[in-house]
Amino acid sequence: LYGQRARTIGAGYLRRDPMARLQLAPGRRDPYAIYRQMRAAGPIVPTRLGNWATTSHRIANRVLRDRHFGVRPEGTGPDPRTDGFDLSFLSMNPPDHTRLRRLAQPAFSPRQMDAYRPRIEAVANDLLDQALRQKDFDLISGFAAPLPIAVITQLMGIPDAEAADFARIGAVIGSALDGVRSLGHAKRLLKANAELEQLFLRLFRLRRAEPADDIVSLVVQAEGERIQPGEMLPFCVLLLVAGFETTVNLIGNGVLALLDHPEQWAALTARPAALAPPAVEEALRFDPPVQRTARVSFCDTEIEGRPVRKDQIVVTLIGAANRDPDVYDRPDEFDIGREPGPEHLAFSSGIHYCVGQPLARLEAAVAFQALAERAPALRRTGRVERRNATIIRGPIRLPVTTG
Ligand code: HEM
Repeated sequence: LYGQRARTIGAGYLRRDPMARLQLAPGRRDPYAIYRQMRAAGPIVPTRLGNWATTSHRIANRVLRDRHFGVRPEGTGPDPRTDGFDLSFLSMNPPDHTRLRRLAQPAFSPRQMDAYRPRIEAVANDLLDQALRQKDFDLISGFAAPLPIAVITQLMGIPDAEAADFARIGAVIGSALDGVRSLGHAKRLLKANAELEQLFLRLFRLRRAEPADDIVSLVVQAEGERIQPGEMLPFCVLLLVAGFETTVNLIGNGVLALLDHPEQWAALTARPAALAPPAVEEALRFDPPVQRTARVSFCDTEIEGRPVRKDQIVVTLIGAANRDPDVYDRPDEFDIGREPGPEHLAFSSGIHYCVGQPLARLEAAVAFQALAERAPALRRTGRVERRNATIIRGPIRLPVTTG
């Protein structure tokens, strides 16, 4: 998803760029050390290939909000040669972006969030009933991953019997979020996309015949008016994949940070309902699941006095901006009691600001609160395994115990 963006507007750029250090093993474990080195060279630095990368919160926020920049060069549509997938409005500029985003927005309204909350709490408690039967369990496969998968498949109206298939295939597609690694990987992705297409086409038929209160029903009702038939599959795949591949990492990164800072975990367990939402915000700031995105300039323009040519790629390093010492006191400290300051960029900024963020925030707050209430003695046991990726960041295995 986000990897695809980087490829689209800068093919080949990762391999040869100095930022490629982020892809080396130490960078994957601790990208923040690399961001610190980059920041020392200035708030926005040219890279060898002629792109720019910014570690500055102010500059990143400005570029993400600037109408002179977009997610692909102006006037271009999805390009099958460079886009692994058509990721719907995430990879579109206005006016198509605006039209499709408006279609998604009502599913994430405050009223919908109030309606979803009891369902999310029920799923979280079910999962914990199972996980807490053993003293030792893996927090990712036992809790952080199945929670958002169950929630998004429910909200989309995917029948329970098929949810596991959608999730399994969606996870294959989710691996494209960080780029396509090999020809074999590309083939697996194409196969998964074809399978997902079959599943969704069946679901479209079902919801045309029997509309329900879910996202897929909303989409088929708009067919031919606000969404063209060929846009429906990418739209649904985007919501499915963005709906869980990121939230699992928010829960994973957040619990990891909490358990690695026992005084913060203790504070949360003392007041779970009150402190879960600020803990979510601090997790998003401290270790964001999407570490970077990028924009390309539509015309000759400038950034804080520096001239920018048309088609210039600017990489906005979200993980770095969230620890910008100009914006946050003690930026490298994880502190859930931090005074609220300017919003972190974990959900980006401007017109692509994550449309699913109210749901992500709600799911993570429910998850942190339920864990703190039901497993206050939780602590880490074994080694954390991290996802082999640089854009999407999070643990894939996080062994814990309640004993
Ligand atoms: C866009 C992060 C959860 C759906 C984005 C972007 C970011 C992001 C950074 C913008 C990318 C850019 O500007 O280039 C996250 C994180 C999440 C999360 C960190 C969880 C912690 C979700 C959920 C959904 C979702 C739960 C849906 C159910 C989307 C969609 C877009 C998007 C559809 C495209 C918005 C647009 O282009 O206008 N997300 N997201 N996300 N996200 Fe999320």
